[in-house]
Amino acid sequence: MMQISSLQLTGWAVLAPMAGVTDAPFRLLCHEQGAPLTYTEMISAKGYLCAPADNRAQRDLLHTEPGAGPTALQLFGTDVQSVSAAAQRILENHAFCLVDINMGCPAPKITASGAGSALMRDVRLAARIVRAAASALAVPVTIKMRIGWDDAQRNAVDFALAMEESGAAAVTVHGRTRAQQYAGTANWDAIGEVKARLRIPVLGNGDAFTVADAAALRAHTGCDGVMIGRGAMGNPWIFDGIRRLDAGIPPRNRDAAEKLALAARHLDMMVAWKGEPAAVPEMRKHMAWYCKGLHGAARMRVRINSAQSAAEMRGCLNELVSLQQPDRLRP
Ligand SMILES: Cc1cc2nc3c(=O)[nH]c(=O)nc-3n(C[C@H](O)[C@H](O)[C@H](O)COP(=O)(O)O)c2cc1C
Repeated sequence: MMQISSLQLTGWAVLAPMAGVTDAPFRLLCHEQGAPLTYTEMISAKGYLCAPADNRAQRDLLHTEPGAGPTALQLFGTDVQSVSAAAQRILENHAFCLVDINMGCPAPKITASGAGSALMRDVRLAARIVRAAASALAVPVTIKMRIGWDDAQRNAVDFALAMEESGAAAVTVHGRTRAQQYAGTANWDAIGEVKARLRIPVLGNGDAFTVADAAALRAHTGCDGVMIGRGAMGNPWIFDGIRRLDAGIPPRNRDAAEKLALAARHLDMMVAWKGEPAAVPEMRKHMAWYCKGLHGAARMRVRINSAQSAAEMRGCLNELVSLQQPDRLRP
């Protein structure tokens, strides 16, 4: 369904890298629902190389659950050698199928060092990073970019062409400038302009919140694939919807019990992996997303946010299920 260099993927809608969101259990759940490729949260190349071997935070970012399917490693950095060296070292011990370099993050703490979307203002450096990584690594190297730094510096087509020329196996374009952050709407026309000029696969990204949005983004831009970020939060079923769309099977609605059973499984996996004291606070945001739209969710969120144990969280989920009336379920 989508081929990135030697990597054959079974579908066209992938899970975006999202720091603080796309943890290993969540990636597994999205894969089970049909995501053909998922991405780690962004990882600092230099941070990885400098961290002691037993650094828990680094280890956690690289953890993958068994059965999670094709997983991409996303790195950020500005140092040509560090990005390649970090990727090489990580690939020695982890079965990532692709390395993606972050050239789209708008956060000042990332761009201040010249990384993330700041690389779009230094095409030559970005090209050197890609060239070095592509020649050093056995897996495809891709980049994720925006449509420019700001409206005055919109260089998506030229930038993407330079990345292709440097050896990128695919590019993902988030249809916003860095200055826009996440505001306004993604410019799908600008993504389409990139797609029209590149020979390598292009993935369109930005504002695919539903199955219909994802299909519309793909149709509008002609992109080979679509990357879904916020639309998957608390909603890994979006990938099942896309799988069904492709197979010509009607979408399937889930009731609250089924949705919250999956939320509970996410919690269980997080507890098994990180231990309860770390898992409970980390699951709060996910729980809020899973509960969104359900009757009584706002009040339950307050209780979930103060829950101190996994049992308390599970109790909240069970109570929320019992609060639902059939006519109040989210469609
Ligand atoms: C909480 C959050 C964390 C993100 N972290 C990353 C990241 O680590 N790497 C990256 O390339 N993009 C990151 N992004 C951007 C998303 O991958 C995606 O480009 C953006 O959300 C637009 O897609 P969407 O409209 O489908 O959400 C993040 C976005 C959000 C909301």
